Amino acid sequence: PVVRLEDYRPTDFLIDTVVLDIALDATATRVHADFSVRRNPAGRADAPLVLQGDELVLLSVTRDGVRLTADQYQADPQGLILPGPLPESFSLTIETMVNPSANTKLMGLYRSGGNYCTQCEAEGFRRITYFLDRPDVLSVYTTRLEAARADAPLLLANGNLVERGDIPGTGRHYAVWHDPHPKPAYLFALVGGTLDTLAEEFVTASGRKVEIAVHVEAGKRERAAYALDALRRSMRWDETTFGREYDLDVFNVVAVSDFNMGAMENKGLNIFNDKYVLASSDTATDADYAGIETVIAHEYFHNWTGNRITCRDWFQLCLKEGLTVFRDQEFSADERSRPVKRIADVRTLRTQQFAEDSGPLSHPVRPRTYREINNFYTATVYEKGAEIVRMLRSLIGPAAFRRGMDLYFARCDGTAATIEDFLGCFAEASGRDLGHFAQWYEQAGTPVVTASGQYDAAAGTYRLTLSQATPPTPGQPTKAPMVIPIVLGLVGASGDALPIATTNEATVDADGLFVLDSANATITFTGLTERPVPSLLRGFSAPVRLESELDDDDLVVLFRHDSDPFNQWQAGQTLATRLILAAMRGETVNTRFGEALGHFLDSDARNDPAFAAQVLALPSEADIARDIGRDINPTAIHNARLAVKRALGAELAPHLNALHGALQSSEAYRPDAANTGRRALRNAALDLLAAGDATEGAARATAQFDEADNMTERLGALAVLVLIPGAARDHALATFAARYGDNPLVLDKWFALQAGIPEEGTLDRITELARHPAFSMGNPNRIRALFGSFAMTNATQFNREDGRGYDLIADTVLALDARNPQVAARLLTAFRTWRVLEPIRRGKAEAALRRVAATQGLSPDVSDIAGRSLE
Ligand code: ARG
Ligand code: ZN
Repeated sequence: PVVRLEDYRPTDFLIDTVVLDIALDATATRVHADFSVRRNPAGRADAPLVLQGDELVLLSVTRDGVRLTADQYQADPQGLILPGPLPESFSLTIETMVNPSANTKLMGLYRSGGNYCTQCEAEGFRRITYFLDRPDVLSVYTTRLEAARADAPLLLANGNLVERGDIPGTGRHYAVWHDPHPKPAYLFALVGGTLDTLAEEFVTASGRKVEIAVHVEAGKRERAAYALDALRRSMRWDETTFGREYDLDVFNVVAVSDFNMGAMENKGLNIFNDKYVLASSDTATDADYAGIETVIAHEYFHNWTGNRITCRDWFQLCLKEGLTVFRDQEFSADERSRPVKRIADVRTLRTQQFAEDSGPLSHPVRPRTYREINNFYTATVYEKGAEIVRMLRSLIGPAAFRRGMDLYFARCDGTAATIEDFLGCFAEASGRDLGHFAQWYEQAGTPVVTASGQYDAAAGTYRLTLSQATPPTPGQPTKAPMVIPIVLGLVGASGDALPIATTNEATVDADGLFVLDSANATITFTGLTERPVPSLLRGFSAPVRLESELDDDDLVVLFRHDSDPFNQWQAGQTLATRLILAAMRGETVNTRFGEALGHFLDSDARNDPAFAAQVLALPSEADIARDIGRDINPTAIHNARLAVKRALGAELAPHLNALHGALQSSEAYRPDAANTGRRALRNAALDLLAAGDATEGAARATAQFDEADNMTERLGALAVLVLIPGAARDHALATFAARYGDNPLVLDKWFALQAGIPEEGTLDRITELARHPAFSMGNPNRIRALFGSFAMTNATQFNREDGRGYDLIADTVLALDARNPQVAARLLTAFRTWRVLEPIRRGKAEAALRRVAATQGLSPDVSDIAGRSLE
């Protein structure tokens, strides 16, 4: 069944209150649900009440106190219908039975690590009871939980705790939670189990006392400290930056080890994949710490952007996700280095979203149809959605943006809103017409902006012509021009910023912002005394591909002198890309970039190590593939990139050796921005060094591996060692496994590194690792670590010419589908760029996809991805 945006209509009934009484049991949990139902004034009179269910066992239905007989309703595991006409308002009681232990889909109520937890977004509540399971039905929830005290000493649900106690003589106890804020069912949550708690008091800006707590599996409490710290900082930041205060007496975060996604923003009771909670210097890398900070902030920020204001329907998913990603990106930028954060976010955007947007799974940020909504929690909805909010801010300016946000919070609080509601607030706050800008939500595909310039020395003018075009995407053969904010500057040959004045009507504002809103535009800069080097798309001011005609000298000028750190970094990446493309053509590698890099390493790099680490990291194989665009041979890209990396490593060896030594520190581990940057640069230097000289690299990496007192340097060393076949690698892998044999999250790093080895033998290695006692097809993190890393990061082996990499992933998807369709479908998106492969690989990938698509009994999740991939 296809769901279409244009078919939206309000429900015929509303459910104002939900009172749940849930008796937790590992295999037979009874759910007693009382609803107060009333006719929706916006709905149809005489309509039946149609409730959704999913794999439910119905025990009884009672309306206004009268138990209904089987002929008075229609029910099956997937739905419950009370035929109309029905009274204006009535009470409805439904009893269902669910088996949390058998719930391997990890949607609805399930068991993880011996505890009970829930995941209801997008459509999981219907796996607990029959309901109007859609985001525009808002209800006030009261939840009574009951369980054997020994089985579940801690009982949590949304809102505030109102009562708890023992049930004498039974060994059972109960807790009653009440959430005064009306919410859609997807934000419902409960947790029951044995958990260790780390808590503190938070006092909000207006003086409300909130108990904030992080609950983790028994014995892991020390590893919850950083998450709690990040939560406190997030709460303060949202007050300072957006004037948003928290609104309940408690805020609970629970970490579970089996979780389909990253985390979930359930009102007052966020449930997390423990990967985004647990950290210690011995077990987590700096990147893990940064990930925890981001995800904790993201889920907390949803309290206003998602929960207080939710989505009218799932087509509006970006309303909460894009906006909340934007907010968490801003938070991390404020807590750490803004330019480095921007570079990291753009890397993610390009690797994930650009890849998605250039292939068969491309879709608008606000899709118009879906078959399975869980397949739309995508990089496009999240990351491109965040870019749209970022562009909106640059277009109307930060002051109008803040006024628009204030208006949005004031006007839409307590409602299920749309993109139109959101944009309307900014149009009003800025006095601007945002009608054309709204195209960003509708039109899929990455616009290509082409720039070309002409300098007239006699007139002292520079004519810059900009044009845009967006390639066709599924269902959208022709495209209209978009509103593209282009922040720019002009740089002189010696690195000075040149003054900006323009003659024609093209306006460049004081911040260097030019808005390209038609297919072509020309800007004439005047008053120039030298040929400028244009620095375009500063800060990556729009999610587009920029094609400019800068030569290597121009790029070196920008790399050395651009005052915009993003474009400085970008110039380096572009130079490196040119080297790699030249190597692919078999041309001799020139060393202009090497020279500039050597100079950089001895000067600026030491002042900003985090930035320098980004500069040292060459464009990824996926970046290069995207640049080439068709007939991709991943092995050729890999080899060319490796050749360039080796040459640079060898050329820069003295600089890199010096850096690697100088950046060592004997201070106690701290995950702050400065130390994180230092370790990032040290690892990047080691990586490049080892490419240039494997013997020296292996020796240095082994020493770093043995000496490291933290996971960042230990794993950085191991990542270098796994690329160098031999005894040192085998020894390090074995040492690591022995040391962390009892820590699945750390072993995931070990699985992932091995799955990424670009060698023929990796396929057999993976088959063997899948039989490792720590591996399990029941745990999403394990699957992502082993099979996900292989498919998404090991380009040469996933894309083996013999097709065995594709078959491995296809087989895994099929084996997983019955157990966990969401994770299976996500793994299958590894094929999202199959059409741009060279013919032999393309044929093999297509055959594997067709084999999946032709399998009987596929889940809607996998069949949707397979189908769209082949369309
Ligand atoms: N809203 C959650 C977040 O952005 C993601 C939940 C997605 N879950 C799903 N089953 N699709 O953090
Ligand atoms: Zn989110």
